[in-house]
Amino acid sequence: MKRILIIGGTRFVGRNLIEKLLPLDKYDITLFNRGKTNPDIFQEIKRIKGDRKKESDLRLLAAKDWDVVIDISGYWAEPLATQLSLQKGKVGRYIYVSTSSHYQFDPQNPHLIKEEEAIVSCSLEERKSEERKHYNQNKAECERILAQQEDLDYIILRPGLIIGKYDYTDRLYYWFHKAKTQEEILVANGGENFISFTNVEDLAEAIITAIEIDNKEKIFNCSSFNASISDFLTLIGKKLDKKINLVSATADFLTTNGVKQWSSLPLWLNGNFLTIDNSRIQSAFQMEFISLEKTVEDLIQFYSSEKKWAIPNPTPPALSRQEEIDLIAKISST
Ligand SMILES: NC(=O)c1ccc[n+]([C@@H]2O[C@H](COP(=O)([O-])OP(=O)(O)OC[C@H]3O[C@@H](n4cnc5c(N)ncnc54)[C@H](OP(=O)(O)O)[C@@H]3O)[C@@H](O)[C@H]2O)c1
Repeated sequence: MKRILIIGGTRFVGRNLIEKLLPLDKYDITLFNRGKTNPDIFQEIKRIKGDRKKESDLRLLAAKDWDVVIDISGYWAEPLATQLSLQKGKVGRYIYVSTSSHYQFDPQNPHLIKEEEAIVSCSLEERKSEERKHYNQNKAECERILAQQEDLDYIILRPGLIIGKYDYTDRLYYWFHKAKTQEEILVANGGENFISFTNVEDLAEAIITAIEIDNKEKIFNCSSFNASISDFLTLIGKKLDKKINLVSATADFLTTNGVKQWSSLPLWLNGNFLTIDNSRIQSAFQMEFISLEKTVEDLIQFYSSEKKWAIPNPTPPALSRQEEIDLIAKISST
């Protein structure tokens, strides 16, 4: 039985992964985390309690050999470099959940980005920083650190925007909740900017495939479909049998009125950023990705049964309902 170490595992991606891994009854799994996030779940799994930012805790990982390490919570370059030097020669395969927001997107040249294209650089200062604004630089640097390891068999998965069960950000749920509870919804640019979305179940399946796969490629974009917020809202309206009226605002109007991209209107980026090509993983992993329609159906089911359509609390915070009403009134009056 392969010994698998999962670094993280209890919030969103990891939780979905473990829910798929456990019934396979095929692997000897150990979790490494601080025991802070959802400490009561997966009590049946072996656990090493520790903080990946502390060298003394990382030594606990290095005390054992692992056939596979699945790193879901690798955000910062320096701790990863320390960890890999401590684990040198003790890991069979390292699977790293990266991102695709670290590509050097060019808004003037929108296209589906392939794995060979450039990712952002990371200065020494950014590498030493743990500020959220240096997330992309550090994810990119983590990939470079992995590639520099001699004789390490690694696979890097680059998801798009991850959505699905246990998504704690409420960024997509914000839009589902609006479709459920409102008729008029404020959207930017007709809600037509595209993003590559990754259904978390597809990502979990890709990680499981990566445990065993024998492939010469090491880096894989991993997205399920490309869609716009308007695509989502149209489908949600259809499934909920609800009339929805999108009130479109231009980027100029929104910016002038203090509406911030990504936060005030969740998932709004002024242009088609975060759009990736997933043909490499489709052919190498022989995966069939979950469709937008099935994702919407499953999420409506989850939000009805588990979340019970509670008021969303997106991170970062979005416009309040009153702010949205005021902006819609301003648009109607011009
Ligand atoms: N959300 C997106 O749209 C998106 C898009 C692209 C890529 N990603 C990537 O996908 C991953 C998603 O993460 P997730 O939250 O869903 O993963 P997760 O594995 O489900 O949860 C995060 C885990 O990390 C542990 N953890 C946090 N800080 C730690 C530390 N200092 N030392 C040890 N363990 C620590 C947490 O437990 P404790 O708190 O108990 O330690 C928790 O178990 C990230 O790598 C992110 O960069 C996300």
